Amino acid sequence: MEMNIALLPGDGIGPEVIAQAVKVVQAIGKKFGHTITFKEAITGAAAIDAVGHPYPEETHQVCLQADAVLFGAIGDPRFDNDPSAKVRPEQGLLEMRKRLGLFSNVRPTFTFPSLVHKSPLKRDRIEGTDLVFLRELTGGIYFGEPRGRNEQGTKAFDTCVYSVEEIERLARMGFEFAQKRRKHLTCVDKANVLATSRLWRETVQRLAPEYPDVTVEYEFVDAVAMRLIQWPKAYDVLITENLFGDILTDEASVISGSMGLMPSASLGVNTKLFEPIHGSYPQAAGKDIANPLATVLSAAMMFEYAFELMDEAKAISDAVNLSLEKGIVTEDLAEGEVAYKTSEVGDWLAEQIEKA
Ligand code: IPM
Ligand code: MN
Repeated sequence: MEMNIALLPGDGIGPEVIAQAVKVVQAIGKKFGHTITFKEAITGAAAIDAVGHPYPEETHQVCLQADAVLFGAIGDPRFDNDPSAKVRPEQGLLEMRKRLGLFSNVRPTFTFPSLVHKSPLKRDRIEGTDLVFLRELTGGIYFGEPRGRNEQGTKAFDTCVYSVEEIERLARMGFEFAQKRRKHLTCVDKANVLATSRLWRETVQRLAPEYPDVTVEYEFVDAVAMRLIQWPKAYDVLITENLFGDILTDEASVISGSMGLMPSASLGVNTKLFEPIHGSYPQAAGKDIANPLATVLSAAMMFEYAFELMDEAKAISDAVNLSLEKGIVTEDLAEGEVAYKTSEVGDWLAEQIEKA
């Protein structure tokens, strides 16, 4: 198969982790006989520096023309402590999601057998966790208008807006995911307080009869925040709005032991995009110490969701599992043992895939 992949390394550790994913994808190409071409484009602070915009039109065109996008991370401390900055790297990420129509961010949470002991949570609570969040990604308070300050600058406001259409397309994807899994869907909202949440609940209730094989549960976001780490095995597929999903998926990453492990897929109208859920980790940038596994596993999701190549996806996750078992890991996961460099982990995985 021929594959055209857009690479958006972004900021901080982005370029280093993307470089490892590229090695792994190339190894898959060799092993399974695919012709893979990469085209790199700029985003984030790197793009602001180069052309004054965090998601340039040229980058958008590269994404539109690609079969899939692999994305690293965005964010730079130069902008974080400057509330007056007119353009921010994160705007590039949001604009990219919006313009590519990536309304559903698929964030799985699972445990790695060899890492269960590294989670701060008790083994019997988390072992065997297998859940997936579908986080709405192009609406809600991240995008709603009006937003800003009053004239005196003494008040600031954001608006949370959802249309029935936006909720429905995400909810339908949630039902379809559940049908292919353990047939349980949880709608996470705050319907006791928020009007948008009541529309979410109403919409999901209206759709439920179309999916009679799926059991649906409605749960408030605060309760989910608690039960998620108390008994994560209660969940199969969770659907939720943008901000709740952002927060809960960071929390869920604790179950697997490290943020450095969690991949994601963003699906929607145009080219699908694959990115780690972690940020740009500027403190580690350029040091060759960041964990590349979340990005490598995002590449595995790319083979699954963009190309429907399950064997290729599995070859990557098998190699990752083996590296964890053997302790071929970066410093965030190495305990006592020597830590490997980011680039060494990438080399090892690529070699492993080719010889497996
Ligand atoms: C994420 C990130 C982004 C978000 C930030 C960097 C804008 O935290 O992908 O989860 O909030 O969506
Ligand atoms: Mn986040």
